[in-house]
Amino acid sequence: MANRVAAVARKEKTKLGLEALFAPDAIAVVGASGATDKLGHVVLRNILEGGYRGKVYPINPSADVILGLRCYPSVSAVRGPIDLAVIVVPRDAVAVVLQDCVKKRVKAAVVITAGFREIGPEGAKAEKEIVRIAREGGLRLLGPNCLGHIDTHSHLNATFAARMPLAGDISFISQSGALFSAILDMADSERVGFAKFVSLGNKADIDEIDLLEAWREDEASQVVIAYLEGITDGHRFMRVARDLTKRKPLVVVKSGVTAAGSRAVSSHTGTLAGSDAAYSAAFKQTGVIRVQTLDDLFDLGVAFAYQPLPRGRRLAIVTNAGGPGIMATDACGSVGLELARFQPETIEDMRNGLPSTASVYTPVDVVGDAGPERYRVAVKAVLNDPGVDGLLVLLTPQRLTDAVRTAEVVIDASRNSDKTIVTSFMGTLSVQAGVERLREARIPNYSFPEEAIAAFAAMNQQRDWMLKPIEGLKTFHVDRRAVERVMKRARADGRDTLGDIEAREVVEAYGLHTPRSALARSTDEAVALATEIGFPVAMKIVSPDILHKSDVGGVRLGIKSPEEARAADIAIVGNARKYAPGAQIWGVAIQEMVRPGKETIIGVSYDAQFGHLLAFGLGGIYVEVLKDIAFRVAPITPKDADEMIREIRSYLLLKGVRREKPSDIQAIVDGLLRVSQLVTDFPEIIEMDINPLMVHEEGQGATAVDVRIGLATPAQGQGS
Ligand code: COA
Repeated sequence: MANRVAAVARKEKTKLGLEALFAPDAIAVVGASGATDKLGHVVLRNILEGGYRGKVYPINPSADVILGLRCYPSVSAVRGPIDLAVIVVPRDAVAVVLQDCVKKRVKAAVVITAGFREIGPEGAKAEKEIVRIAREGGLRLLGPNCLGHIDTHSHLNATFAARMPLAGDISFISQSGALFSAILDMADSERVGFAKFVSLGNKADIDEIDLLEAWREDEASQVVIAYLEGITDGHRFMRVARDLTKRKPLVVVKSGVTAAGSRAVSSHTGTLAGSDAAYSAAFKQTGVIRVQTLDDLFDLGVAFAYQPLPRGRRLAIVTNAGGPGIMATDACGSVGLELARFQPETIEDMRNGLPSTASVYTPVDVVGDAGPERYRVAVKAVLNDPGVDGLLVLLTPQRLTDAVRTAEVVIDASRNSDKTIVTSFMGTLSVQAGVERLREARIPNYSFPEEAIAAFAAMNQQRDWMLKPIEGLKTFHVDRRAVERVMKRARADGRDTLGDIEAREVVEAYGLHTPRSALARSTDEAVALATEIGFPVAMKIVSPDILHKSDVGGVRLGIKSPEEARAADIAIVGNARKYAPGAQIWGVAIQEMVRPGKETIIGVSYDAQFGHLLAFGLGGIYVEVLKDIAFRVAPITPKDADEMIREIRSYLLLKGVRREKPSDIQAIVDGLLRVSQLVTDFPEIIEMDINPLMVHEEGQGATAVDVRIGLATPAQGQGS
């Protein structure tokens, strides 16, 4: 209860604090300086020159007037209220300044000062202290070690960056000061408008998730772009990002690697997951559009800000050159877009208005000697066609090309159409003036056709995501008690892995089918059990110390008679003793031979940021060599499970090739959902491989043949 109250209180402060950050009525610049080469001077000047209309108080105990403003010795010496303090004093003075801010009831502070966590333990200690002061004092803190922030709508430039962008619809979060400056520079040279610009610095208090939460409702921020190196709290990020992306696009460049998982990885899927799989999965599950480069980040931000989302994926291309048209066509195919097919009237209109050398099917080729008029005919015709959702206009500079007038043709057409239009006027000098016109009219232009296609594809991705219904989790009736008993036993023994039979018991309790199996503790028992289960059987060594049974000669398959069973038992135990001396041997598992099917793997690994990560792939070389594997953060919905299966390249093999019957895909969905429920109910399961999950023909189900489960030790903090 107390926690809930604290959480609500914190949330309310969040709103207050972030409002104070972006739209303060009064600002104190602490460390403001008259020396023009000092950051405290640059920040104050930026605030004044940016056109900020609220009150500004320079704070400096040894100055009377700075940049024409009366200077105060401390924040608390100012008489009127202050919403925001921008702090540019040396590190060891920051804590005292913050205490003064708290005393003055300042609601937000930007700490530009560096020398905190990023320099080592001593800085980390200082950072902890300033966070404590801020939290206890109800003040939200941006930074430390940041470049500051910009809000063009309140004309606030609280940074020491050289420029301020134009007002616009894009808001940007940067975890790197350098990239903050780079995007600012791009915004300036491309004359692209931004709403908010935030440098997170060490994100000791305000982090990317706080901003996403606040910007969900922020009318000024229509598009959010972010450069992130890590995410503070994976689960909270997913909840907040999913809410935001249902309303507006969130485009992210994520670099860097995450901290290693909570223990050394020994499972298959754990090794394959690497550090990036969780981020990729989380982004997919929350509608985040991930790009690889800053250029892409900027390009997509512009596309989303300038153009309406397309109604579908049918793209028309109009070009004056064959090559770029073919490149664009190829690019369409590789990102799942369709080339628009025109109605007869559209074709007729183009035939009437274009020379006979023109091609009137997508890509429409108005031919190299085309002037603006030919573009006008083609652009108008295709935009009127109900089978067209978007238009890409390509132009290469040729002798008769007029980039400016062609741009005007496109702009005119766009005024009478609500369809998505992107352009690629290729080249530099000869198209520059045309590109300028396009930009002014908010038509995104790209240097190359593939970039324009990528933008159109991302816009489709966003539309699909916004239309995708929100799906609930599916819960199965399971035998939770049975799993609790197994866990209790393992904990009592201080073990961090479950034995074969225990692991099988666990998945059976959650409704997965496993082959009939029993543990033989002696050779005679092995013969008796094999006879009871029915030949043929498989026989496998059972030892908590032997992970790779085949490697020690601990597996025999297709045992057909009591005599073979006897011989196999003696050989398996003998091999284990020889090749794994000292291993504790519990006996030999006698298993029903599994019906044939496709070998697949369902796995679980644990990611430090996002928690349980589910994996699915086809067994053998597909996973091992081709790394053809799909990941999702648990818990997953039926649709997530379905998408995981379709995502792998070898999906076609499951659908059945060359007269093969299709595999039971529904059984895989079921298996994934049950495993998802299992690890959600028992978070101490941090590693799991069902390898293979033998998937039989459609309608015949799937069998979990081998199951390995690893548990968190109490020290790892996953115990439920
Ligand atoms: N209250 C008010 N003013 C104070 C003060 C206090 N408690 N303590 C110092 N000042 C004043 C100083 O008198 C000085 O003003 P002056 O020029 O009139 O004498 C001003 O604040 C700055 O202090 P100074 O000691 O000159 O420091 P500095 O300007 O050389 O460096 C920082 C201060 C914050 C810029 C520096 O410590 C820093 O962190 N630089 C890195 C910033 C950075 O890169 N951030 C990350 C970007 S991504």
